[in-house]
Amino acid sequence: MSAFPQNYWYVAAWSNEVGRQLLSRTICGEPVVFYRTNDGRPVALADRCVHRRYPLSLGKLDGDQIECGYHGFVFDCSGACTFVPGQDRVPRTARVPRYQLVERDKWIWIWIGDQSKADPALVPDAHWLDDPEWASVEDLAYSPFRYGLLVDNLMDLSHETYLHAGLIGTPEIARTPFTTEVDHEGKRVSFSRHMAAVECPPFYERTTGFTTPIDRWQDVEFQPPAFWVNNVRVAPHGVVPTPDGDKGAAHVKIIHGLTPETENSTWDFWAVTRDFALDDESVSHTLLTLNQEVVQQDLDALTVLEKVVASEPPGTQELSVAIDAGGLAAREMLRKLL
Ligand code: FES
Ligand SMILES: [Fe+2]
Repeated sequence: MSAFPQNYWYVAAWSNEVGRQLLSRTICGEPVVFYRTNDGRPVALADRCVHRRYPLSLGKLDGDQIECGYHGFVFDCSGACTFVPGQDRVPRTARVPRYQLVERDKWIWIWIGDQSKADPALVPDAHWLDDPEWASVEDLAYSPFRYGLLVDNLMDLSHETYLHAGLIGTPEIARTPFTTEVDHEGKRVSFSRHMAAVECPPFYERTTGFTTPIDRWQDVEFQPPAFWVNNVRVAPHGVVPTPDGDKGAAHVKIIHGLTPETENSTWDFWAVTRDFALDDESVSHTLLTLNQEVVQQDLDALTVLEKVVASEPPGTQELSVAIDAGGLAAREMLRKLL
């Protein structure tokens, strides 16, 4: 059995990573080669030649076909072999698996499981990444630790107080109670933490211009296995949403596409989108660099934790407390997906 839920969409790449160069990337343990056809469509094939398993990504792109770099078999973008050197006949079984893709919101999503079940309607909504009402900064963090550690991390933001102090964390986060909810279809885990009259961390002070005290909301929604968004609202203390909108507040969506690479490594496609100062390059730059710092702090901590977990005997106990409600609900949902 695979270690990961199979019949789900996972983010495979940022749109601008896939072009006329062959890109090799392992997704849920499967080596995949990505490229774009001459007319711009993204393609994903198993990165393993049917002949002697040489990675196709080490071959070359010829029009819309890949020529294997070892003995020259050629494959078209459906994965079918179209040419075998030294003979006229191409064996009927000569084909590599092709994966369904959906390109949307600057992301290329891949369906890694049963290809007949790939339904584009199931791609999570990440429109903020590519919406004129929002500005977005984004990056990819290659994460040398297991997927589950990243889920635990994102589902318990109380760690911001300690791990991200002085950047995005403030004392109030860990001490403010939150509510956790699992939707009735078992497809989403949400948690909310609304803080009133609290400290404004540099992350928001330097980008919104708001100063302490602020009201700060974190409304997180995780759609297992692959999509996480923190709907942030920050506003000067006392500004309340009105029926005609939420003027005076700033809204930020912190977004993560979580994709297992192997059992011990993960792709973290992240973005910070905002609905204010849309054209202000300096705000974009500040959000990008501050969030890169935040992500690096998580990366450093989870890289350490991966070593700890990997060296433990099976069944080593951990202790869960109130702050773990979101993380435990997510773990339970992921168990069901498997
Ligand atoms: S391994 Fe690809 S052609 Fe031989
Ligand atoms: Fe973090």
